[in-house]
Amino acid sequence: MTAGSFAGGCTPQRLIVVGSGIAGLYSALLAAEAGTEVTLLTKGALADSNTYYAQGGISAVLDEPAPGDTVADHIADTLKAGVGHCNEGAVRVLCTEARLDIAGLERFGVRFDLDDDGDPALGLEAAHSAPRILHAGGDATGARVAAALIRSVLDAQAAGRIQVIGHAHVTALTQQHGRVTGAAFLQDGQGLGVEGDAVLLATGGAGQLFAQTTNPSVATADGLALAWRAGAEVKDLEFFQFHPTCMVRSPHARESEGNQDPLLISEAVRGEGAILLDAGGRRFMPDYHPDGELAPRDVVSRSIALHLSALGDPNGHVYLDARLIEAHKGSGFLEKRFPTISARTRDAGVDWTRELVPVAPAAHYWMGGVTTDLHGRTTVPGLFAAGEVACTGVQGANRLASNSLLEGLVFGRRAVEAFLAERSENGVPPSADSAAAGDTAWKFERMPGPVEASFSNPGIFSRPALRRLMTAKAGVIRTGGQLREAGAALAAWTAVEPAAIPADSLDPRAHEDANLLLAAQLLVHAARERRSSLGAHHRDDTRPLEMTVDDDKHYSMSRKASLVL
Ligand code: SIN
Repeated sequence: MTAGSFAGGCTPQRLIVVGSGIAGLYSALLAAEAGTEVTLLTKGALADSNTYYAQGGISAVLDEPAPGDTVADHIADTLKAGVGHCNEGAVRVLCTEARLDIAGLERFGVRFDLDDDGDPALGLEAAHSAPRILHAGGDATGARVAAALIRSVLDAQAAGRIQVIGHAHVTALTQQHGRVTGAAFLQDGQGLGVEGDAVLLATGGAGQLFAQTTNPSVATADGLALAWRAGAEVKDLEFFQFHPTCMVRSPHARESEGNQDPLLISEAVRGEGAILLDAGGRRFMPDYHPDGELAPRDVVSRSIALHLSALGDPNGHVYLDARLIEAHKGSGFLEKRFPTISARTRDAGVDWTRELVPVAPAAHYWMGGVTTDLHGRTTVPGLFAAGEVACTGVQGANRLASNSLLEGLVFGRRAVEAFLAERSENGVPPSADSAAAGDTAWKFERMPGPVEASFSNPGIFSRPALRRLMTAKAGVIRTGGQLREAGAALAAWTAVEPAAIPADSLDPRAHEDANLLLAAQLLVHAARERRSSLGAHHRDDTRPLEMTVDDDKHYSMSRKASLVL
């Protein structure tokens, strides 16, 4: 068996994979190699995914001893960034097995950038204790990885090993005797279906819940909603990561560029030495964290939000100064190392070798998701999940930079392994072990109850209104009162206008709206339940958990009591 491949099984089985980001493409390829009949459904084109936009790269310790790095350090950094909320077993698997799946990617044609000695060129990103980020095409890692995997999938399709169904919006998972066996989907205005032995959800995240996001328009919480409606447990939904540096462009600038895509400025830019300045030209991050711009992502985003509030400009932006990099590393460095960002900022009217880039935090990555065990098994038989839609607990309360593509690879492969093992063991039903579910997991029965309608007039539901609400009330910094208002508005939208989002609509956008609305309710419910700040979930009305002084405990308790909603 070569890296990331499986020996063929005896009886062909059918696996339905939903989603065409890194987890979906890689899993489909591995399953097909093992002799499984694979149907890959994706709601846009194959390249429409968050993976395509990933700039930074993939973190991995390839060899040991590596100069100045170890797998143990990668594990420690991941646990630290996750603020003690990670599933340690999952982190161990992620970091230990990384090299296996990097080799798997190379087998499918991905070529990572090399340094002058012909070794992998390794970048540094925030909260990593050593440079360990593999990248491809400079800052075009996601696009290069997606392109190579898509080529392999199309080859497999030509060879009859994978059936790709594009522009197919999955509206429901079908079940027989409590087991997920297929999916209903919309294509060209028609309701269709596909049946198999199991479904692997690899549908990515939900950045479209918020007004500013680094995610493309397809990130509408579809997988989470499908799994929830099928009865699966979900977990850690209060933890939504905001990336600190998304370029701020006016709608007018977007229009005239003819490009509505989000413009992320990779964390790798700060890894190369860029700093953050406020409107007064003052570097502020060292006031908030000793690691400055290289503090964990949740800290940097929160610090920007707090700093802007302190300056009386909570909806404003700060500036990324990349000019220093060029000054230290020589003219032309930025263009060579970050060709995509160089071109995109230039198109947006900013020459970042000479000018500051206006940036603000934007919704980026959901740490929570559908509860899975370490083999991608959800709590519903026949339903697997991998990548951002899943929650193994590997990302804790705040994901470490460049661990997301890695998660999709490692746990996508493991889900395929579990599917194959289950089938060869004559149908042992899959189920997530209860230890993975943890104490904050909710079952289907625990749908958030009605929320008191104290938010008097949320207006008529629309996607922009939902995104504005989530940004204002459940964004980087939250309070109990804001979350309560958000819950009431969401409940009003759900209760008052059920006909606005009919379950049997043939319009994919109506289904996306329903999925976003459900995901928003689940997120807000989780955020209201967690009364203390932790990682990316920052409540401005409670003291952090770490307080140990007795008086503080009393304070914290009484604040909690007054927050009963
Ligand atoms: C980035 O390049 O900053 C994003 C990478 C990630 O989300 O891990």
